[in-house]
Amino acid sequence: MSNVIDGRAVAEKVYVDLRGEIATLKSKEITPGLAVVLVGDDPASRAYVRSKDKMSRELGLYSVKLELPAATTQNELLARVEELNRNPHIHGILVQSPPPKHIDEAAIVRALDPRKDVDGFHPLNVAKLALGDPSAVVPCTPLGVQRMLIESKIDIAGAHVVILGRSMIVGKPLALLLMQKTKGGDATVTVVHSRSRNLEAITRSADILIAAIGRAGFVKAEHVREGAVVIDVGINRVDDPANERGYRLIGDVAFDEVAAKAAAITPVPGGVGPMTIAMLMANTVKAARQSL
Ligand code: GUN
Repeated sequence: MSNVIDGRAVAEKVYVDLRGEIATLKSKEITPGLAVVLVGDDPASRAYVRSKDKMSRELGLYSVKLELPAATTQNELLARVEELNRNPHIHGILVQSPPPKHIDEAAIVRALDPRKDVDGFHPLNVAKLALGDPSAVVPCTPLGVQRMLIESKIDIAGAHVVILGRSMIVGKPLALLLMQKTKGGDATVTVVHSRSRNLEAITRSADILIAAIGRAGFVKAEHVREGAVVIDVGINRVDDPANERGYRLIGDVAFDEVAAKAAAITPVPGGVGPMTIAMLMANTVKAARQSL
């Protein structure tokens, strides 16, 4: 049985550091401010937005939660983003993804002040990450995965990291982050996806396998080498009448069979999820610090 990496415990360590930094900023009359914008009423998105707002408040940040109706137009949303760009009390802005179909998400991301783009999705931040510019705002989930590996004393440098999934939120930025010439980088990174040939042979050659494809239980024992480290980024809702909420959350990894082979593994829930929120808070504090 493998070592189960406790994402909540690692997130707590991040919060200890952040509380100190927030106190320092407050002594300089700066309270880091985060605005989280939700358009529509997707239940999973509502739950995420609620957790982000709650954690901001717990840390003593200035938190604004904007919940806009599903019928909000592109221009109305752009106007709200502009207001937040101009608001000096707000250092970070996050527009929860995915928005309703009629919204052009890429255009909304381009409208964000890149200094306030705490998701790291703006083209300027994507370019800075690719260039290795330390002022880049890096997407929260990749940062959380990297921090978890570092805190768990898992060697990244020289390791073969295989990432399943090529999304702009996780796969692509994570590949860039782990191959950087810095602490927490220097990995040999392979990205595989739905069109990859010989997928199983590639995932079996991973020292660290990171699943981010959004398919419940996709990664099975046969995808994993004995002794590999497995990080599960997936958060899939599956119907479960026995559960009082009517669903339960499962990851992209078939946990029990993979845990029997892996040296270390992250659970769902309680793995990468808490780290993503912690890194959002860290990005907001970084944006406030960089505003000085
Ligand atoms: N939806 C799922 N993950 C994320 C994220 O990291 N940021 C935003 N804005 N939306 C998301």
